Amino acid sequence: MKAILLAGGSGTRLAPMTAVVTKQLLPIYDKPMIYYPLSTLLLAGLREILIISTPHDLPMIEKLLGSGADLGVSFSYAAQPKPEGIAQSLIIAEKFLNGQPCCLILGDNIFYGPHNGIEQAASLTKGSFVFAYRVKDPERYGVVTLDAAGNATSIEEKPAQPKSPYAVTGLYFYDSEAPAIARSLKPSPRGELEITDVNRAYMQRGELKVGILGRGTAWLDTGTPDALLDAAQFVQTIERRQGMKIACIEEIAFRKGFITAAQLEKLAERYGKNDYGAYLRSVLEE
Ligand code: G1P
Repeated sequence: MKAILLAGGSGTRLAPMTAVVTKQLLPIYDKPMIYYPLSTLLLAGLREILIISTPHDLPMIEKLLGSGADLGVSFSYAAQPKPEGIAQSLIIAEKFLNGQPCCLILGDNIFYGPHNGIEQAASLTKGSFVFAYRVKDPERYGVVTLDAAGNATSIEEKPAQPKSPYAVTGLYFYDSEAPAIARSLKPSPRGELEITDVNRAYMQRGELKVGILGRGTAWLDTGTPDALLDAAQFVQTIERRQGMKIACIEEIAFRKGFITAAQLEKLAERYGKNDYGAYLRSVLEE
């Protein structure tokens, strides 16, 4: 399975923080936001990743992440010229996907907790799979209802009256049909190709499965200054308590066997004596 990481959007709710730099490059405690969704992909064993962003932000993201070779993975890059919707990323990625199923993750989604369900979803070959998470304010998200077998029974984008407390997270798994479905969509009233419309198309075929991310999982919001600070403090709390980093992509690449100890040592050298470098060396010494 290939993966798409969409780091788009104008980040208006975070301006002026996002005046010159994309939201996905803002820090969440000790690393750029984009490391978090990236780590979700790497933990799911996905190593061929297309990163999509605005023409303005793409060069900066590429400067940060490079080809992926030093992590034993492959990053490709593509621009989304205008913010015309999450589903448009599937059309932009069509050539890259080359008929393969895909995982799509949004660049501002932070997941923390057991990853088993996500790893399992990464072996999907038919239909689609999304994750739902109980939230207090479902009206801000895509909202899904499901039956006992985990099949979606309704899905709505930012409904005024949500039918359930379950928000659809920004982590989607699709079979090879997804780009064609995206191409068949009409823009919504906000002028975007909605990912919820892709999901609804699968639901109408009886092919939208929903997994619930339970109480032991954190799905953090990063949409407002308060949410951004909360996310940073959450990461700080866990990291300081355990002495282990969340979303340290170099560590994940090493533990997953994508790179050798010698390669990790070289990556650690980049950070010299700072905390991040010391942490990478501590992983090696274990
Ligand atoms: C998007 C999707 C929404 C989903 C959310 C998850 O919302 O449209 O269905 O629940 O991402 O982060 P947006 O970020 O465009 O408001």
